[in-house]
Amino acid sequence: MIEAFTLNDKLEGKNVRLLRREHSFDGEMWQTVNQNRDFLRQYLFWVDKTKSFDDVSAATKKFAQGWAEQRKFAYVILDKHSGRLLGSIDIHDIDLTNRIAAIGYWLRKDKTGFGYMSDAVQTLEKAVFAKGVRRLEITCDSKNRASAGVAMRNGYEYEGTQREVIYTYGEFHDREIYVKFNR
Ligand SMILES: CC(C)(COP(=O)(O)OP(=O)(O)OC[C@H]1O[C@@H](n2cnc3c(N)ncnc32)[C@H](O)[C@@H]1OP(=O)(O)O)[C@@H](O)C(=O)NCCC(=O)NCCS
Repeated sequence: MIEAFTLNDKLEGKNVRLLRREHSFDGEMWQTVNQNRDFLRQYLFWVDKTKSFDDVSAATKKFAQGWAEQRKFAYVILDKHSGRLLGSIDIHDIDLTNRIAAIGYWLRKDKTGFGYMSDAVQTLEKAVFAKGVRRLEITCDSKNRASAGVAMRNGYEYEGTQREVIYTYGEFHDREIYVKFNR
């Protein structure tokens, strides 16, 4: 068992800066989601439900609640040099008893292929491991090779596959689990 923890509002990576998600990013977040809808919706169920700026704002409010309650921590990912919003990364499913947490993420399509997500994952995992979390999980649709690539590229070990646990756009898909331990 570890104590409930919070994370810093700002985390610095090599080329990315992670800032606590707040309403000041809602405009750029809405634009980014809207422009990358087809790319993101394949593996992110909330994209189709995000139909307006107000939906983004409502999601930010929920994330703020989660942060205040120390249940989840959502960051926007900014390009350190241009200040532009690249995507999002979060910690969720925090289990203090068993010292487990999970990472979720996405990037705008035109900023994939540069290592920004690897940078963000390394930055966030360092902060989370420092709080006593022992096991970090990345899970993804088995068809999502880009996401599995992030996990493997960053030293997360393939643990197994849950069969047909994701019902997505009329099909059942498998989910892969990748883990990294801090022990
Ligand atoms: C999953 C996702 C974040 C992966 O993004 P990504 O840019 O491929 O991830 P990384 O930051 O690890 O970058 C790796 C790529 O950058 C390249 N790269 C360049 N410089 C790099 C560096 N310094 N470090 C690591 N990779 C680097 C790698 O070769 C790799 O390119 P490749 O795929 O052509 O081989 C992105 O595809 C995405 O947002 N998808 C849609 C949403 C989604 O599926 N989210 C996950 C749900 S589980």
